[in-house]
Amino acid sequence: MLFLPHVPVQMMNVRENTSLLALNTFRVDVNTRYHIEVSDVQDIRNFIGSELHAIQPRMILGGGSNVLFTGDYNGCILHPSIKGIEKTSEDKGSVMIRTAAGENWDDFVRYCVENGWCGLENLSNIPGTVGASPVQNIGAYGSEVRDSIETVEAIDLETGRTRVFSNRQCRFAYRNSIFKSELKNRMIITHITFRLKKDHNFNTSYRELNKELSLYPETNLGNIRDAVITIRKRKLPEVEALANAGSFFKNPLVDQTGLDSLKRSHPEIPFFKDAYGSIKLSAAWLIERCGWKDRRIRNVGTYKLQPLVIVNYGGASGSEILEFTQKIQRSVQDHFDIVLETEVNII
Ligand code: EPU
Repeated sequence: MLFLPHVPVQMMNVRENTSLLALNTFRVDVNTRYHIEVSDVQDIRNFIGSELHAIQPRMILGGGSNVLFTGDYNGCILHPSIKGIEKTSEDKGSVMIRTAAGENWDDFVRYCVENGWCGLENLSNIPGTVGASPVQNIGAYGSEVRDSIETVEAIDLETGRTRVFSNRQCRFAYRNSIFKSELKNRMIITHITFRLKKDHNFNTSYRELNKELSLYPETNLGNIRDAVITIRKRKLPEVEALANAGSFFKNPLVDQTGLDSLKRSHPEIPFFKDAYGSIKLSAAWLIERCGWKDRRIRNVGTYKLQPLVIVNYGGASGSEILEFTQKIQRSVQDHFDIVLETEVNII
């Protein structure tokens, strides 16, 4: 444990018994006992040295776009709002960009595209913060953030020490990392260094992206970003119009034996081999097959164009949303003997 002087709570940016309504994209109306905004490394150290450090439970909340609160949060929420983007080194083929956790993800992606740095363009238009991106290893259109991460800097909330995780130490997997598993809520990510390419070898093999790009005169970073934004706008509801948290479930992974047995009863089942050799099934397809596409119960429903997205039509409570999703899980389990795991963090 580092020696940290006792810090009076008055020195911190703390709100007590405050609403989370605007801070979660499901627009669930709940309160948190404490909300603490940390805008630099010193703020985090101050928190560790304060009496609030003893309060449990504790969680880290970025943009609130991957979380479902099922009730009031009777603990401390830490919200990193650390800002800053800097180029730390550069060689012939690549640049290293160190970005603070509180930067908006999509603003950062746009900045990279505008500078001609390649690697994140397929991840355009994803809501949330830079600091949240490695936690669930965000991915879309054939890319994952792990492909571009060099290191992740974080502060251990138990000891106050800074740790630098190499890409391998982050233990990235499909929608997972060490920050979402063993070290969940223990490490607060402060900065991420991305290795981005100056020579462009685009990743446009995802079928839908490839098709969209064929409408453009040429394939370049800006057009890839535009194409991704167009596809996402077409398929996914904007949170400002219809509250949601993106894909609610993960796409299930199966082995060859599992796939063979599913194919016997459902020969038409779609599956995808990902870059790491896993066999991925389409959760959207499984849900649709169970009759859940564009279904609504009171204020909760599946989105009409993409049943993997659960929407709050307004006023739904977190437990109402959870109940709805559990009905979907039961249907898929009864019909396909597959357990859909949630992608969204249920609190
Ligand atoms: N599909 C259906 N019915 C539908 C929609 C899709 O059956 O109404 C099936 C089709 O077989 C289609 C397949 O689902 O080929 C894949 O659809 P899509 O390309 O939309 O991808 P997804 O599996 O639904 C994943 C990510 C998204 C990401 C897209 C694009 C997960 C859990 N979700 O969705 O990520 O944007 O791929 O790469 O892996 C998120 O994580 O919040 C998210 C939106």
